[in-house]
Amino acid sequence: MRNKLLLGNWKMNKTTTEAKEFAAAASSLLEIASAHHVDIGVAPSFLSLEAVRKALPAAFIVSAQNVNEHDHGAYTGEVSIPMLKDIGIDWAIIGHSERRSYNAETSLACNAKIKALLAAGMTPVYCLGESLETFEKGETKAFVSTQLKEGLKDLTPDEARKVIIAYEPIWAIGTGKSATKEIAEDVIGFIRRTLREHFGPVSEDMRILYGGSVKPNNVREYMECPNIDGALVGGASLNIDSYRELLEGMI
Ligand code: PGA
Repeated sequence: MRNKLLLGNWKMNKTTTEAKEFAAAASSLLEIASAHHVDIGVAPSFLSLEAVRKALPAAFIVSAQNVNEHDHGAYTGEVSIPMLKDIGIDWAIIGHSERRSYNAETSLACNAKIKALLAAGMTPVYCLGESLETFEKGETKAFVSTQLKEGLKDLTPDEARKVIIAYEPIWAIGTGKSATKEIAEDVIGFIRRTLREHFGPVSEDMRILYGGSVKPNNVREYMECPNIDGALVGGASLNIDSYRELLEGMI
């Protein structure tokens, strides 16, 4: 059985002081989540990772929002996997559409990061999704299939099993215009079939999340879909009450 997963992506929000306040209030949610087989986590900025990690129980996931694939070297402004591991962080979001558009990250660049994370025993959350233009042209599946193929290139089935996929249509991120549950389930079902073609039966163990304007009032609809294993949530994960309501909607 695949545990459901609620992952809050805080993007460039919250000072370390604010992040610690959230963590102190969120800590008690772990018990409720575990009792219902839901994994929960947050992805703070690099600066707050250590403080949030220390403030939360080990089973509460704390993820980076990005990482560099090189262990060390002349990469000004970057953060490496050993740096994350040193402070107890073993998850990282890779290929978020904001990084793809503002930092020109390609699926092949994501592939290098995913491989480096897996080699270090960490969990990558690989984001993909199409633009409004691609959606309107009816080319979502072809687009997403290329992102999958490139991002997960050369992975063995055993490695692929450890990757979490997040389908986030760009037109739904931060817009309040979430994809309907029918659209989300259709694309995520397609993603699972594509994973099966590439990696075989391990596709049944892989968790695939939906992201894009998930709110407390719509999260349950997605969770009722057989292929949707959880949510990657931006805006609605920032406030502790809203985060709690998201969890309640998943149990
Ligand atoms: P949103 O962001 O929930 O604010 O739409 C989702 C995301 O970017 O992961």
